[in-house]
Amino acid sequence: MAIRNVVQVGDDVLRQKCFPVETFDEGLWKLLDDMKETVKKEEGAGLAAPQVGVLRRAVVVDVEEGYFEFINPVITAQKGEQSGWEGCLSVRGKSGIVSRPMRVTLSYQDRNGEKHLLKAKGFFARAICHELDHLDGILYIDKAEYIEKC
Ligand code: NI
Repeated sequence: MAIRNVVQVGDDVLRQKCFPVETFDEGLWKLLDDMKETVKKEEGAGLAAPQVGVLRRAVVVDVEEGYFEFINPVITAQKGEQSGWEGCLSVRGKSGIVSRPMRVTLSYQDRNGEKHLLKAKGFFARAICHELDHLDGILYIDKAEYIEKC
């Protein structure tokens, strides 16, 4: 495993729409292992592949509920609303208040290509929404109703 450099806002790679993962091979596993090591070292709640310069639909989420890898994730249902603080490893020194669904249902594949369905709420749902936005070139600062330096 290796720590990867986290791309910062202003880099065009963060503004691209990512391609689906089609091959569940050692290249993907190495990417995910490196993303895991990077998000833990940086103490983030999640990391998306474009943040390490890879335009593929893969994210990791590391929250109270545990560590998760979501490949080709799609939100299939959402409910309610929550407003709260977010930060991003690609937007250093800032945080902002963003409105997100309170509950989401997520369809995704694991690192072996197996399909799963997961329900998440609260901060876990927020982290999922934030990371999935990265796969379409969207940053939380695009949606925040308030941003401050921290
Ligand atoms: Ni982010």
